[in-house]
Amino acid sequence: MNMNRRSFLKTTAAASAGICHTLSRVMPVLGIGAVPALARAADEKPALLGGTPIHKGSWPKWPEWRESWEPDVIKVLRSGRWFRGAGEHVVEFENAYAKLLGAKRCLATASGTTSLMVALHVMGVDAGDEVITSPYTFIATYNAILNCKALPVFADTDPASLTMDPATIESRITERTRAILPVHIYGMPCDMDAINAIAKKHKLAVVEDACQAWLGEYKGNKCGTLGDLGCFSFQNSKHLPSGEGGAVTGNSDELIDRCVSFHNCGRAFGTNKGNGSFTRGMNYRMTQMQAVILLQQMDKLVKETAIRRENADHLTAGLKQIPGIQPARLPENSRAVWHLYPFRYDAQQFNGLPKAKFIRAMNAEGIPCGGVYSEQYFDGLFDETIASRGFKRLFSEERLKAYRDSFQELKGNKLVCETTIGMGQNMLLAERGCMDHIIGAAKKIQAHSAELAKT
Ligand SMILES: Cc1ncc(COP(=O)(O)O)c(C=O)c1O
Repeated sequence: MNMNRRSFLKTTAAASAGICHTLSRVMPVLGIGAVPALARAADEKPALLGGTPIHKGSWPKWPEWRESWEPDVIKVLRSGRWFRGAGEHVVEFENAYAKLLGAKRCLATASGTTSLMVALHVMGVDAGDEVITSPYTFIATYNAILNCKALPVFADTDPASLTMDPATIESRITERTRAILPVHIYGMPCDMDAINAIAKKHKLAVVEDACQAWLGEYKGNKCGTLGDLGCFSFQNSKHLPSGEGGAVTGNSDELIDRCVSFHNCGRAFGTNKGNGSFTRGMNYRMTQMQAVILLQQMDKLVKETAIRRENADHLTAGLKQIPGIQPARLPENSRAVWHLYPFRYDAQQFNGLPKAKFIRAMNAEGIPCGGVYSEQYFDGLFDETIASRGFKRLFSEERLKAYRDSFQELKGNKLVCETTIGMGQNMLLAERGCMDHIIGAAKKIQAHSAELAKT
């Protein structure tokens, strides 16, 4: 069964509680013995059939707290200067994050969802518009568009890359389309050259949902700097977490000034003077405490991104040798950051062993993993939207019917939802031997798949 990414993370984190600790990078974890474990794996009995789990250690916990961070946080707490207008930490974070990304500007926000709301508003997405986006994403992407009273129109998902298939965008453009919102899902960059070319041709804005893609890279540039505006999340499960938090990044002073105004109740800012002192806006501000927590973790993010990448490369090299396991394909000259490490599972190559049973067998081997996003557009959200008074006023009955029917065309996405399995980013922070355990577990299950399929 598929879960959403948050319940997925909760479940896999629980399954990995205590676990191949970050400490394991300095202290060997019991039972690692990497290469022999991998070589023998296929000969051994699966744990689900009473054998010994291949991975007996633990996995790194997430998020991490360090005592050395406490003095700076306590200083802010004791100062009473908690609101962004009262202190300097939010601005300090914005400058540091923009520098890290090579973006001209950054605006910190209360969350990833609010960063999307800010960016969509500033790019002119308004009631009755349409925004082309990816169906394979966390529900907040859909909701940010719906909260502008606009329709999220889904391009199909490319089963090889798990991201928006640019070849399916143009047929979805109508006279109401205002923007394209690609999602760098799991931190895997979308094919942005193709997406930007379509946007340019049709004069559409591009807002990147980079909420899972801190430091993701495409052709030498960072995710969040590839379109008009980029949006990030710093929610608790993220690689740069502060409980809640977000950011909008971009290279245009004019656009970011308008973002600053909108997120601060519409107060005039910089080049955005408005007609009087206010334009439309909300309160989507980040607090000083969030900013201090984020500032503490910037170097950690850089170091851990390198570790996740090295381990993901090792996993990909091993897993792609196993028939029926298909790691995701990245665009040329791009680097993912692996918020989840996904692969597609083909039951045919495992003697018909269903995905759910493969997952149970992996879990029994000590490898937390699970299905992730389902075909969420059939879950009732859109039936409620289409039936709402506001949407009925904004869109014709024919448009809403055709829109609802179009979900059936998302064949690539259906396949991706049915066959994708993900592992949490925390697992990629374990030592190399633990990656061999993952590969070994999949090999073991394949070698015994006929037997497992019968039980
Ligand atoms: C792809 C994507 N978009 C948007 C969001 C929303 O971010 P937040 O939870 O910070 O509001 C998330 C968060 O999980 C996400 O993964």
